[in-house]
Amino acid sequence: MTQKARVTIERSYTIGEVDKRIYGSFVEHLGRGIYNGIYEPTHKEADEHGFRKDVASLVRELGISVVRYPGGNFVSSYRWEDGIGPVELRPRRLDLAWRTLETNEVGVNEFASWCRGIGAEPMLAVNLGTRGIEAALDLLEYCNHPAGTYWSDLRIRHGYRDPHDIKIWCLGNEMDGVWQVGHKTPQEYGRLAVETARAMKRLDPDIQLVSCGSSHTFMETFPEWEAETLLHTYDAVDYISLHQYFDNEDGDTANFLARSLETEHFIKTVIAVCDYVKARKRGKKDIMLCFDEWNVWYHSKKHDDNQMMSNPWQTSPPLLEDIYTFEDALVVGCMLITFLKHADRLKIACMAQLVNVIAPIMTQHGGGVCRQTIYYPFLHASKFGRGTALKPIIVSPRYDSKDYTDVPYIDTAAVHNEEAEELTLFAVNRSLEDPVAVSCYLRGFEDYTVAEHIVLESEDLKAANTLANPNAVVPHVRQNSCVSHGKGEYTIELQKASWNVIRFKKAH
Ligand code: AHR
Repeated sequence: MTQKARVTIERSYTIGEVDKRIYGSFVEHLGRGIYNGIYEPTHKEADEHGFRKDVASLVRELGISVVRYPGGNFVSSYRWEDGIGPVELRPRRLDLAWRTLETNEVGVNEFASWCRGIGAEPMLAVNLGTRGIEAALDLLEYCNHPAGTYWSDLRIRHGYRDPHDIKIWCLGNEMDGVWQVGHKTPQEYGRLAVETARAMKRLDPDIQLVSCGSSHTFMETFPEWEAETLLHTYDAVDYISLHQYFDNEDGDTANFLARSLETEHFIKTVIAVCDYVKARKRGKKDIMLCFDEWNVWYHSKKHDDNQMMSNPWQTSPPLLEDIYTFEDALVVGCMLITFLKHADRLKIACMAQLVNVIAPIMTQHGGGVCRQTIYYPFLHASKFGRGTALKPIIVSPRYDSKDYTDVPYIDTAAVHNEEAEELTLFAVNRSLEDPVAVSCYLRGFEDYTVAEHIVLESEDLKAANTLANPNAVVPHVRQNSCVSHGKGEYTIELQKASWNVIRFKKAH
C-alpha cells in the first residue's frame, strides 16, 4: 500500500552553506588502503610515482575535497620521519595498531602530491600517542615552512621545493580508546593537545586544528570526554572530531536503517557540549564539527581479528575489506542527509575510508577497480549537494524498531545551488514494504521544474557490487515519478527502500 508524506521547502529557511570539505575521505596505512590500493607501482595503470591512474580517476569522479592521513590508529605509533628521503633507505617497522609490517614506501611527500593531484586538500594527523609536541612541530615545519630551516631545507633536498601548505591538522586520533597506542585520560589528552596546538599555531598561525572527540557514542566517557578536553583546548583549536560506524550484525534491517538517528543525536550532543564550554570560558568563537571517520563497518570484522592474531606482521594484507550491500548504501545516504541538515556547524567530514579498507572503491592486485554500493550516495551528494542547505519540514509516517521509536520513513535534505539555479532533494524511503507518495511544496521555487529523478534501489537488500559483478547495484533515472500540480507543488513517488536524488532546475 502506498503511504503518504509531506515535505515543504522554503527558499529563505536556510541552515547554512554546505562546506565542500564534508565530501572528504581518509586513507590510512592499513591493509590495502595505500599499498595495493591507491599505490601499486607494478600495476599497468601506475603513473611515474607508482599511483594507480584508474583508482585516481574514480576518486576524482567522487569529487573528494579533502583526504585525512596517515591514520587512524596507525598514527599513534607512527614516526613520520620514516616516510621521507630516499625510499631505499626507509626503515621497515612493525605497526602496532594493525599488527602489520610497514615498508614506508609512501610518506607525507608522496601522499601530499597524490592528494593535490586528485584535486583534494591534504589533512594530516599528528602522533599524540607515543610522541608529542616536538615531533608535531618538526612535521609542521617540514611540510609548511618555506625554506631556510633544518626541516624545510630537508624537504627541499628531498625534491619538494614548495611547501605542502597543509591547513588542517588533527591532534591525535581516538585518544579516548583503550585500543589506542598511548591512550590517554581526558586530562592527559587535554593538556598535551592544548600545548601542542599552541606551539603549532606559533609556527604557523594559518593552520586549523582538530581536537580529538569521542571514538563513538557508546564510549563510556562520552560526552564527558568532549567537555573535559575542550575545557583545555577550546581557545587553541577550531574543530572537534566525531567518529561513528554502524553495523547490521543482528540482521535487523529496519533497525539498521534507523541508525542515522544516532548520528543526529551525536551531532546535537557535541554541539551542545561545545556551546557549554564556550559559555564556561566566555568564548568568542564557535567550535565546528569535523566528522572525520564515518561509515558502515562490520562485514570483515571476524576475518580481521583472525588475520591480526594468527598471521601478524604481513605487508599490506587484506584488512577491513567490507563488501557493501545495497542496504549499507541506504544507511550511508541517511548519514549524508544528516550531515547536510547540520551544515551550519559540520564543516568537515571524511568517509572512512577511500580504497579497499571499508571503502567505496575496491581494487584487485594487478587487476581492475570497482564502485561499491556506498559509492553512489556519496557521489550524488558530492556532485549535487553543493550550495546552501535548506531546512525541510517533513511530515512522514513513522515506525518503531528494536532500538528506536518514531523513525520517519522519509528522511530528506535539500540543497539550493543559487549559481547553477538548481535545487536538489536527497531522500531515503526507509520503508521495506511500501512506496511513499511525497507531496512536495517548494516555496520560492515556483519557476523551477524537475530535471531528473535518480534512484538507487534493489529488490535484494543484500545485493553487492564486486569486481566480477560490478553493476549489481547502480543508480538509474526514473521517468514519470514526479507529477507537477503547478505553483511549485509536486507529488513524488519514492520506491520502498530507496535512495533518491530529485533535481529541480530553474526554467528559462
Ligand atoms: O578507520 C578504521 C579505524 O577506525 C581507524 O584507524 C580508527 O581511528 C577507528 O577506530
